[in-house]
Amino acid sequence: MINGIRHIAFIMDGNGRWAKKRLMPREFGHKVGAEKFKEILNYCKNIDIDIVTVYAFSTENWKRPQNEVNSLMQLFEQFTDDAMNSQEPFRVIFIGDRSVMNPDLIEKMNNLEKKTEKNSKTVCIALNYGGRAEIVNAVNTLISQGKKNITEDDITSTIYSGKLPPPDMIVRTGGEYRLSNFLMWQSSYSELFFTNTLWPDLKTKEIDEMITEFAGRKRRFGGI
Ligand code: FPP
Repeated sequence: MINGIRHIAFIMDGNGRWAKKRLMPREFGHKVGAEKFKEILNYCKNIDIDIVTVYAFSTENWKRPQNEVNSLMQLFEQFTDDAMNSQEPFRVIFIGDRSVMNPDLIEKMNNLEKKTEKNSKTVCIALNYGGRAEIVNAVNTLISQGKKNITEDDITSTIYSGKLPPPDMIVRTGGEYRLSNFLMWQSSYSELFFTNTLWPDLKTKEIDEMITEFAGRKRRFGGI
């Protein structure tokens, strides 16, 4: 925990534009983006943030050209392979509907979660994730359990990220000012940070500046 921040979430936007500026294919932007993700994850570990969540693939991202989807899937698979062989202290969890992913990848995701479940720091990867779908799924699960009156606590404990505390900070790179269906339930009291920096260009110094700004914001959670 640093400055009261236990959990930080990132919307990693801008890979495509970053590549385009270099006259490179979008896939290259994602590859560099995946390296950036590892760098930022390590940085967060070193400054003692316990949980990092990233938006890696939304339920809408299937609409992208098949090449791009394939290359993202390859990056996710590469990540699961690397993480499986890593000694890093990360517990990896995936949120989102994994059922439609490639069966090999699903197996790797499941194995990785199992293997790392006792580790101290958490990295939560949103894959085929949509915030509204997450809430709807939770409600349907509760209905199927026979619940008649659904409380906020019921939903909090039934959504994919159930046992994680909500993010203290959500950072979106790439210059858009919206959450794009990310962590709809969990973001109610998160402090939001937006930067024009494209994800592959993000520097740890900029995160430091946001953390300093976070410390200066008053989080009243609806109180005075
Ligand atoms: C948005 O940028 C980014 C994505 C849809 C993919 C994010 C994925 C990664 C950074 C790879 C992460 C890897 C792992 C292993 C978690 P965009 O393509 O929408 O960029 P644009 O807005 O410039 O087009």
